[in-house]
Amino acid sequence: MKITKLVRTFLSQNQWFKNCRNLRSGAVKESVDCVVIGAGVVGIAVARELSLNYGRNVLVIESDSSFGTGSSSRNSQVIHGGIYYPPASLKGRFCVRGRRLLYEYCKQHGIPHKQIGKLIVATRHEEVPKLSYLLNRGNENGVEGLRMMEASEAMAMEPHLQCIKALWSPTSGIIDSHSLMLSLLGEAESHGTTFCYNNTVVGAHFEGNQIYLHVSETETVKKCDHHSQQHPDILLLPKLVVNSAGLSAAAVARCFRGINPGVIPPYYYARGCYFSLLSSKVPPFKHLIYPIPEDGGLGVHVTLDLDGQIKFGPDVEWLDPIDDISSIQNKFDYTVCADRAQKFYPEIRKYYPSLKDDSLQPGYAGIRPKVSGPGAGFADFIIQGEETHGIPGLVNLFGIESPGLTSSMAIAEHVATQLSV
Ligand SMILES: Cc1cc2nc3c(=O)[nH]c(=O)nc-3n(C[C@H](O)[C@H](O)[C@H](O)COP(=O)(O)OP(=O)(O)OC[C@H]3O[C@@H](n4cnc5c(N)ncnc54)[C@H](O)[C@@H]3O)c2cc1C
Ligand SMILES: *[C@@H]1O[C@H](CO)[C@@H](O)[C@H](O)[C@H]1NC(C)=O
Repeated sequence: MKITKLVRTFLSQNQWFKNCRNLRSGAVKESVDCVVIGAGVVGIAVARELSLNYGRNVLVIESDSSFGTGSSSRNSQVIHGGIYYPPASLKGRFCVRGRRLLYEYCKQHGIPHKQIGKLIVATRHEEVPKLSYLLNRGNENGVEGLRMMEASEAMAMEPHLQCIKALWSPTSGIIDSHSLMLSLLGEAESHGTTFCYNNTVVGAHFEGNQIYLHVSETETVKKCDHHSQQHPDILLLPKLVVNSAGLSAAAVARCFRGINPGVIPPYYYARGCYFSLLSSKVPPFKHLIYPIPEDGGLGVHVTLDLDGQIKFGPDVEWLDPIDDISSIQNKFDYTVCADRAQKFYPEIRKYYPSLKDDSLQPGYAGIRPKVSGPGAGFADFIIQGEETHGIPGLVNLFGIESPGLTSSMAIAEHVATQLSV
């Protein structure tokens, strides 16, 4: 019998599992309480919620060697107000609720953050009605303090800014997402959550009402050029499973034998690159500056680090589809192509005309897991329980793109309630 590192983790850290009989394949079977797939900010928040507020024993399986290496560390680190989304949508509700929870949490736990506020700017007359539209939407969503500003007032706040009208959102801010994840993770661990790295969920099957989760060491999975689902190192028998695998969530769900593939949304990937502003002694902006949103993203905007460094991004670049195995192997391409800077200069100069030539340097990239393709317009977060896919105890999280960081604690609340634990 192959005793994997995962099993050793159980043996050394957990008393609550029952060692079950072996399968013919030789895989070890373990009964567990809850499994969360993926240690991004959402998975971590879900694990914390289940262990801290519901007393559940949670095992988080993360394919990478550490937490938060996916989208959760490749974003703008902006705490969004909740303006853009249709009022009854999950994005709209969770962004507003999540933001309030997040500020409260940051204060209580000393997470570095700053409520610096944001200006959404119109730079052409055709864009002014869009600002009014966003103002109404934000108000409907319950976003506090939104206010239209004349150009003179906005440009007095930000002397380098060029605009003809602006919408001021005082509740927007920035956060150190790594500190947030570390804090949520620490709380989860001290309430009985175990984080298991270097292990990948490669599939599942169902017998009766029992989920059998197939897990293999990432090292083995990476070496496979065909599907490794047949030979998992271990089978976990959890009562609850939350599929929070981010970019791989749809691929993971498709490898669950017995799930109706029709309920799994198509996945599209849109890369977003950032360019940082070469060191200027005094950063040109103090607030977040956003243009009018574009298709697929919020537009190439100005964000600030907590130390005041300025970066621009993310743009929207639709990537070629990727097959399920490559997705589960995490073969995503985060290359920032230096040429893309040429598209950034004219975009940024619409609101920051004094941007100098050659002042942008490649930063990093993130990839958005999208459930609607180019030009298809708004798509909501998809949080899928038994009522959709028919499998008791399973929740799938699909399309958790922006504002997923802001919404993370609200998503966690919702998932725990949905599982009615
Ligand atoms: C460019 C960009 C900018 C953004 N800006 C913002 C912003 O300013 N504000 C905001 O609120 N939101 C923003 N977002 C959204 C936010 O970053 C994400 O919604 C959030 O990080 C998603 O967290 P997650 O835990 O769902 O996914 P992830 O962080 O991607 O975590 C998923 C984890 O699952 C693991 N995994 C995958 N497959 C498996 C498997 N088979 N077995 C085990 N583990 C697996 C991965 O390794 C990964 O660690 C942005 C996103 C992008 C891409
Ligand atoms: C995960 O694997 C990496 C090598 O890929 C190794 O350096 C690290 O120690 C492993 N982590 C754990 C927790 O086993």
